[in-house]
Amino acid sequence: RANAPVVVAIDGPSGSGKSTVSRAVAARLGLSFLDTGAMYRAMTWWMLTNGVDTADAEAVAIACGKPVIVSGTDADGPTITVDGVDVSGPIRGPEVTAQVSAVSAVPAVRTRLVELQRDCAGLAPRGIVAEGRDMGTVVFPDATAKIFLTASADARAERRAAELRGKGVDEATIAAMAADLVRRDTADSSRSTSPLTQAEDAVLVDTSALTLDQVIDAVVELVAERAEGL
Ligand code: DC
Repeated sequence: RANAPVVVAIDGPSGSGKSTVSRAVAARLGLSFLDTGAMYRAMTWWMLTNGVDTADAEAVAIACGKPVIVSGTDADGPTITVDGVDVSGPIRGPEVTAQVSAVSAVPAVRTRLVELQRDCAGLAPRGIVAEGRDMGTVVFPDATAKIFLTASADARAERRAAELRGKGVDEATIAAMAADLVRRDTADSSRSTSPLTQAEDAVLVDTSALTLDQVIDAVVELVAERAEGL
C-alpha cells in the first residue's frame, strides 16, 4: 500500500459540499484534484454549443467522441478546457446545469469520460482526490479511501441558496435552482448506468450539522488512516 498511488474517491449529491471539501483536502495533503462533474458539464456545454439535441441519446452518443476535454488537476487552481477553450465559467450556467443529467446518463459519454478520469489519476504525481457520483463504485473501485458525503435536502438547498444570495441572485431564481437541484439528484440517483450510490466500503459522512472545517478535518483523518506517509 505504501507505494501505491493514493486515490481518494469522494461521492455525493449536489450541495453536499463535495467540491469545496475535496479541493481543500487535496490542497492539504499535496494531492491533485479532479472535479468529474466539471467534465460532464464540459461535455454538455460542447453539445449545446454545437447544436446537438441533448434529449437525443443516440445523437449525444455519436458526438461524444469529438470534443477534446482537458482537466487541469492543480488543487490550487483547477481548470477545464474544451478544444482549447476555457469553459470554467459557462459550465456553471443554467443551460448546462439543466441538461447535464441527460448527457451524463448516456453510457457512451460515461465510457469516454471515465477513461479520461483514470488517465488523470495515472498522471497525478502523488495521487489524486477525485469527486463525483461514481468514483468509489465504478471509476476507482480500488481507491485508497472512499467517502460518501451527504447532507439533508434542507441543508443542501440552504447552502446553495446562501451561495447564490452572496452572488446577488434574486429569490425567484434561487427557488428555481432549489427545485432543479432536487430534480437533478433524483435523475442522477435513478439512472440505469452508474447511478449515485454509496460504495459498500465507503465511509458515510453526514455534513448537515458540521462546519466546512470540521468536514475537511474528518476527511483528512479518514484518508490519513488509510494512506501511510501522507
Ligand atoms: O457535481 P456537479 O453538480 O458539477 O455534476 C454535474 C452533473 O454531472 C450531475 O448532475 C451528475 C453528473 N455527474 C455524473 O453523472 N457522474 C460524475 N462522476 C460526476 C457528475
